[in-house]
Amino acid sequence: GPVPGRSGEVPRVRRTTGSLPPAERPGAGKAINASVAAMEPVLDRRRTALEERAGEEALKARLDVTFPATPAATGSIHPIRRIVQDVCEYFEHHGFAVVLGNEIEPDYYTFDALNIPPDHPAREGFDSFWIDDHLLLRPHTSPIQVRTMKLHPAPIAIVAPGRCFRRDAVDARHLFQFHQIEGLLVDEGVHFGHLKGMLTGLCRALFGPAQRVRFRPSFFPFTEPSAEVDTTCPRCKGEAAACGMCGGSGWIELGGAGMVHPNVLREAGYDSEKLSGWAFGFGAERLALARYEVDDIRRFIDSDRDFLEQLGTLS
Ligand code: PHE
Repeated sequence: GPVPGRSGEVPRVRRTTGSLPPAERPGAGKAINASVAAMEPVLDRRRTALEERAGEEALKARLDVTFPATPAATGSIHPIRRIVQDVCEYFEHHGFAVVLGNEIEPDYYTFDALNIPPDHPAREGFDSFWIDDHLLLRPHTSPIQVRTMKLHPAPIAIVAPGRCFRRDAVDARHLFQFHQIEGLLVDEGVHFGHLKGMLTGLCRALFGPAQRVRFRPSFFPFTEPSAEVDTTCPRCKGEAAACGMCGGSGWIELGGAGMVHPNVLREAGYDSEKLSGWAFGFGAERLALARYEVDDIRRFIDSDRDFLEQLGTLS
């Protein structure tokens, strides 16, 4: 009910009843009580309405419904996955098929069929994890070349991404488990220029339109001639002498490539007189290090959410 006051209108009127003739006082008192009783519910309703309005205003002051909501943690594509997707997309666009292989391979597909006989010193370079005398965790994606050629007649145009394993000591540039992306084109009349054109296009798709590729003479038993492939350092654009990413050389190494060795074509059942092909094998982590300008390869497997979210928002 209303708080009784002494200075209000009702007490003032009540006091005036004292000056009335005694016979009129009870009637006046009743009339005053009746009008107070009639006013009380009206006052109550008004007070409640005012209190509700004040409450809403106080709430509005605290609650900004236009404030952006906390985004839901939806996750993001891992940078290595993103690289693999982009490389595959580039080659698919040019008519290549994406092929996957096995993470455990016999030595035959890993080495012998790739022109690396049992006692060839090139086997040592792969520092493999052996499971038994003949099975190993694949140290490169090149066995997929052999499996694809044995399954399908030429022409072959494939790109083959996958996890690889080597007994490497872990540091800022090496992991014992990493990813490669293999490419293989076999047909009549395929030459080195096709390889250079496709890899230049790949680097431009991944890093930007000014990108160039450089071939340095190298050796792989399964290609002849063989090359190490470099691309323009995406950080210094090949300019800076003091670039921390390329060590001032202006180039970043992506992996190996070359023309498929005739022995490999023959072992796969192909006519090496009629057919020729090129192949390459790039490190996905190397592409990611260069593209995202990351300083340490271990960051890709640290499961650091801040790092992954930051790269996940980049294209
Ligand atoms: N398989 C090679 C490696 O892992 C890379 C490569 C692939 C080289 C295809 C030439 C052709 O080092």
